[in-house]
This record gives sequence, C-alpha cells and structure tokens, in this order.
Amino acid sequence: MRKPIIAGNWKMNKMNSEAVQFIKELKPLLPEDDSVEKVICPPFTALAPVIEECRGTDIKVGAQNVHWEESGAFTGEVSPQMLKDMGVTYCIIGHSERRAMFGDTDETVNKKAKALLAAGLIPIICVGESLEQKEAGNTFKVCESQVQKALEGIEPRDAGNIVIAYEPIWAIGTGKTASSEDAQEVIAHIRKTLARVLNEEVAGKIRIQYGGSVKPENIASFMEKEDIDGALVGGASLKSQSFSEIIKY
Ligand code: 13P
Repeated sequence: MRKPIIAGNWKMNKMNSEAVQFIKELKPLLPEDDSVEKVICPPFTALAPVIEECRGTDIKVGAQNVHWEESGAFTGEVSPQMLKDMGVTYCIIGHSERRAMFGDTDETVNKKAKALLAAGLIPIICVGESLEQKEAGNTFKVCESQVQKALEGIEPRDAGNIVIAYEPIWAIGTGKTASSEDAQEVIAHIRKTLARVLNEEVAGKIRIQYGGSVKPENIASFMEKEDIDGALVGGASLKSQSFSEIIKY
C-alpha cells in the first residue's frame, strides 16, 4: 500500500511571519490520524521557522530546489547536506518553472536526484508536457523520457521512496486540470516506465502525484484513481483552509 502524499509548493510566496501563521492555523485543521503524508515546501528563507513551527507534528518540510554539490564556490546555491542539517525531508526538483526559467535540464535534475538520495533526502521529481507537446500527441513520450533521464544511474534499491509529480505544464496555475482519467492514464504510463527503468517491485512502491490546479473541489476525483497517490499543490496550498480541505479529501 502506498501512503498518499499531499505536498504544498509555495513557490516564491510568504514572508516568515506569514509562513509561521499558516502552520499555526493548519495544525488544528488537520485530521487526527496520519493516513495522509503532509509536506510543506516553503521558500528557502522560511525553511527554518516552518521546521521549528512543525516540530512535534507529522508535517514534513521540503525545499523547492537544491544544488548537487556538497559545498564549494557555487554562489547562491544550497546543498543537500545543508538542507538535511536543517531538518528538511523532501526536495522538489525539475519543476517546469525551473526548467523554463532557470536552466534546469534532465541532466541537472538527474544530478540533483542522486545528490539528494546520497544525503538521505527524498526527491519529488516533477515531469510533465507542455500544451504544444500534448497537442502533438507526445505526452507519454515526453514524460517517459523525463522520468528515464531523471533516474539514470540510480539503483533500484535506492529509489523506493522517490516521489514523482506529474504536472502537465498547461494545467499549472491556469485553473485547467487534466481530467482525472487522463491523469490516471499518464501516471499509469509513468509507473510502467518506472518498472522498466528500475523494476516492477520498486515501481509499485514509488508514489506518483498529480499537480496542476488541484483544489478542494477536484482532489477526490484524482485520489480515487488507482495510480494517483497524492497531489503537488501550488495556489491552493497558500491558504490553510483550502490546503487542509485537500488533505482531508
Ligand atoms: P497550481 O496548483 O497553482 O496550479 O500549481 C501547481 C504546481 O506547480 C505545483 O508544483
């Protein structure tokens, strides 16, 4: 059984005081049981206060990016070991915004994935097609290639707790979602790819999220699908009320 994982990607939002206030509000809104894994990914600047405010809860904290080296002359970068040292558990890599605006490539995503695993952190690897690629009928091919390249050289025994997020680019921040049927189909194909690249057993363990305009109103339709194990939520993760409703789908 794969434990559902709902993660909030705050992107470049929230001052530290707002971040702490969010966690304070979220805590009493969460379900008593821990049947859903909850992750908050604040900007780097808010990691420390969010980690502090989440102490004693089962909310995990993730970063939104990382460099692959351990230390050195890499101005402006943060290493996996630094994140680990702070108490970070997860790290989003390969988000389409980073691929489009900050030069992330399949190769750097692969380096980041390896570095995170070596440091004992869990990568949330984002993949997904653009509108143009979707209209050309290339969704499966694009996702397959991104997954395969992200995992190059990673041993199956190290890959079981990796998380993949399928985020069709045209659905991010647009209010348009993939239909749950289409998302299931792509995600099932991603799982097949994982089985080929790693093996069947590990592919059965890896959690695959859907992301792109997830809201309290549509989360249940995704979560009822066989291969969809959670969501990576942007806009709707910025308010404690809507994020808690998504967690309680
Ligand atoms: P939205 O939920 O705002 O569409 O963003 C999705 C996303 O990019 C999460 O990483």
